[in-house]
Amino acid sequence: MKTKSDAEHAHVQNIHRTKKAPEDLWFPDYPAHLHIDLLPDIQGRGYGTVLINTVFNTLREKKCPGVHLNVDFANAAALEFYRKKDFIILKENSWGLTLGKMM
Ligand SMILES: CC(C)(COP(=O)(O)OP(=O)(O)OC[C@H]1O[C@@H](n2cnc3c(N)ncnc32)[C@H](O)[C@@H]1OP(=O)(O)O)[C@@H](O)C(=O)NCCC(=O)NCCS
Repeated sequence: MKTKSDAEHAHVQNIHRTKKAPEDLWFPDYPAHLHIDLLPDIQGRGYGTVLINTVFNTLREKKCPGVHLNVDFANAAALEFYRKKDFIILKENSWGLTLGKMM
């Protein structure tokens, strides 16, 4: 299943190509940027939770104040996953939401 729209894909490519986030997607309290991409066969078995808890623990150790990420509106599963992990909406974009969580 395609979980990224062309607009979100272009946005992610832009982040990877440049050294600084675009001004409209730079959140000083949430400087870390996160992706999780589990293959379909291993989704829904708790691995996403293990991975994200590992990231949270590392960010806290490094004294990083917060993390942000982007989710396409079409990706209902990921939106629900991050809601359960207490992410809040930082920005509503044309293609989806930028979510954030303080550490
Ligand atoms: C989204 C993703 C990271 C979630 O990881 P996961 O291992 O599948 O999720 P978990 O098994 O750890 O579930 C954690 C919680 O999220 C909820 N959740 C996970 N998948 C869900 C789904 N498809 N629908 C509704 N809730 C879901 C679970 O119910 C669970 O809730 P609980 O703690 O109350 O039991 C993973 O499925 C994934 O990588 N998907 C494909 C790529 C993707 O969409 N990445 C995110 C892009 S921003």
